Amino acid sequence: MTKYEELQEYLEGNQSTWLITGVAGFIGSNLLEELLILNQKVVGLDNFDTGYQHNIDQAIEDAATVTGKDIGQLKQNFTFIEGDIRELEDCQQAVNGADYVLHQAALGSVPRSIEDPINTNRANIDGFLNMLVASRDAKVNRFVYAASSSTYGDHPDLPKVEDKIGNPLSPYAVTKVVNELYASVFAKTYDFKTIGLRYFNIFGKRQNPNGAYAAVIPKWVSAILGKEDVFINGDGETSRDFCYIKNTVQINLLSATIDNDDAIDQVYNVALHDRTSLNQLYKMIEDKLIERVNGLIEKDPIYRDFRAGDVRHSLADISKATELLGYEPDYKIGQGLDEAMDWYIADLKK
Ligand SMILES: NC(=O)c1ccc[n+]([C@@H]2O[C@H](COP(=O)([O-])OP(=O)(O)OC[C@H]3O[C@@H](n4cnc5c(N)ncnc54)[C@H](O)[C@@H]3O)[C@@H](O)[C@H]2O)c1
Repeated sequence: MTKYEELQEYLEGNQSTWLITGVAGFIGSNLLEELLILNQKVVGLDNFDTGYQHNIDQAIEDAATVTGKDIGQLKQNFTFIEGDIRELEDCQQAVNGADYVLHQAALGSVPRSIEDPINTNRANIDGFLNMLVASRDAKVNRFVYAASSSTYGDHPDLPKVEDKIGNPLSPYAVTKVVNELYASVFAKTYDFKTIGLRYFNIFGKRQNPNGAYAAVIPKWVSAILGKEDVFINGDGETSRDFCYIKNTVQINLLSATIDNDDAIDQVYNVALHDRTSLNQLYKMIEDKLIERVNGLIEKDPIYRDFRAGDVRHSLADISKATELLGYEPDYKIGQGLDEAMDWYIADLKK
């Protein structure tokens, strides 16, 4: 049995209360689904800035399908608060009674932050600090937060190891570095227990394919299915360590519950330790979609300029998470893409 399987079994028999901020978003709604499957009580906070009610509804429906419980029964374990992390009172209300906080709410996207650094700063730094203060005052057991691989900035080493970071390359990256600094200061000053998860490129169901700031996988899937042009920024040899959402959910729950002082007040890479270039990714996605959808044919992507603020290569060393948290990312990129493609195709038909 893996450490995560043991944890799942334990949680099924022991109910706690979890606050998920950003619950209407991609990662937040997947955390909600898993916690409902595991019979946990969940409070969700979101202001619907980049999240959607339908993500919450679908998370509950999917949890009902897996557990065989009816939706009404699952909804009894879920309280939603429409609120804003930029308001301290909303954070205080949401965190009241929570054992664990999984803080996901933020404005994602490097390009968005370059266009609008002020609003990115407000959500990602002011909002983060509000959540820290509210969670400290509510004496939660653990504050797990979404950090980012963008923190590595211009550091040249590959693979990326947690204690070697460079200078941030975008306002978004600055906000994520500041989150880590605040979390570490709260740990030292208030003996507050935090864990930061430096997500690399996470993908999977409910990741938004629409809008100027969509992530690469959903954006390409949607373009290929719509028979539109796919653009690659740069020569396509830019590489990323793509990580399937189920691995991300696993590490969040392990981080919240780990009972080892050495593992707490730390940051961890959340990835696979497997580098895929954009050219390889394009081919994998196109092949998987052609396999599944009649009438789709191979088409070359269009190459355009490199995008400001992007790092060239990204590959994570995940040994720290494996050793200290028992993280075992069992979904490799191909398997994750298979599940994600099935979901995008089914979702499009709705
Ligand atoms: N998806 C990735 O690959 C990735 C990579 C690195 C870091 N992250 C981080 O993970 C977290 C979740 O990302 P995601 O991909 O699920 O994005 P998402 O946009 O799907 O989810 C973010 C959620 O936060 C909510 N939100 C934003 N501002 C808010 C505010 N002021 N008050 C309340 N709610 C607010 C949004 O409405 C949305 O539902 C973010 O912190 C992001 O920076 C994600």
